Amino acid sequence: MLKLSCRSEIPVFRVLDILRIVNERAAAGEDIIHMEAGQPSTGAPQAVLDEVAEIMRTGNMGYTAATGMPELKNRIAQHYADRYGVKIDPKRIVVTVGGSGGLMMSFLSVFDVGDRVAMAAPAYPAYRNILMALGCEPVEIESTLEENYQPTLARLEALPQKPQGLIIGNPSNPTGTMMNKKQLAELTAWCQAHGVRLIADELYHGVTYGEAADTVLSTSDEAISVNSFSKYFAMTGWRIGWVVCPEDVVDRVKRLSESLFVAPPTLAQHVALKAFDHCDVLDGYVARYKTNLEILKRELPKAGITKLSKAEGAFYMYADISDLTDDSEAFCRGLLDQAGVAVTPGTDFDLTRGHQTIRMSFAGSTEDITEACRRINVWMRGWNHREAKTA
Ligand SMILES: Cc1ncc(COP(=O)(O)O)c(C=O)c1O
Repeated sequence: MLKLSCRSEIPVFRVLDILRIVNERAAAGEDIIHMEAGQPSTGAPQAVLDEVAEIMRTGNMGYTAATGMPELKNRIAQHYADRYGVKIDPKRIVVTVGGSGGLMMSFLSVFDVGDRVAMAAPAYPAYRNILMALGCEPVEIESTLEENYQPTLARLEALPQKPQGLIIGNPSNPTGTMMNKKQLAELTAWCQAHGVRLIADELYHGVTYGEAADTVLSTSDEAISVNSFSKYFAMTGWRIGWVVCPEDVVDRVKRLSESLFVAPPTLAQHVALKAFDHCDVLDGYVARYKTNLEILKRELPKAGITKLSKAEGAFYMYADISDLTDDSEAFCRGLLDQAGVAVTPGTDFDLTRGHQTIRMSFAGSTEDITEACRRINVWMRGWNHREAKTA
């Protein structure tokens, strides 16, 4: 048998596996409420889609520059000025194949094989998996409900060796928790003082329920910000995102983009440019997520699920169910099979404690979230805690 590379032997991205299985079961006619999927149930605004045919008829659908169309990069730079009051040179922006492409190219451009890169646990599993595929060493920093599931300076100081990099999710997938401006500024200062490259996953900016998220670019010229049209802009399937890089990094990302992708998808870039004109519709989606969040905050404790993350952004709530079970996968299977509600076990996000946590996405319709809470409540009344804890 011919050789397979060790570096490609990364863990399965279980959320995607679950999504596939749940979609197959739903397509076969099962009545399932989706709280497993990390995507808005509503797509790009209709007014944007209405323009796609015209764009395809008149636009040039050939390759764009490897770093993206200049007009889109200019529009993204304008977005930073409008939303954060931060002036970004469009030359520092690279349009990417989703935030995922941005993560991969960022890691490749600043980390070497063997570099240690820290992140909070729980975290988005692809950070760990991409780093492993690149020969880097993911370093998971335990984070608790009390610590708002974000990396603290004390935890970073306590690491036996300083890492070369730190990845933060702000707001975080899977917890929805956020760092405030002060915490973010302290973290960027710590990274600068210790020569640690900070990569901020800012994919859920725009999807916040109180104070708006601040960008790491406000306080650091050395950090990399990764972003996407998948979440606030609700364009998951269009596979389009962007990164903002320090000046000395951007040329490397450009060269990687040329050889890895040639260019990001042209049609998606045109659509993304139009999407900026329809923020009123997108803000309406965020208002719906907020309503859904309030329902979960009110109803889950009634069902006995009480230890909930302080979701201030994204569309996830993370629940510590250690008082209910030590087997979150069996819990999720039971909930799906017996109540028709799909949620995700924490095992993807936290290798150590994920067997006692679950993630619930509330990006669906308010009717669905209301019905999911009703079903969870009924199902939980039949859930035998003692048996589940001792099984
Ligand atoms: C935190 C986080 N980062 C990155 C991604 C990748 O998103 P995309 O490639 O669709 O932009 C996701 C997707 O769910 C995510 O939740």
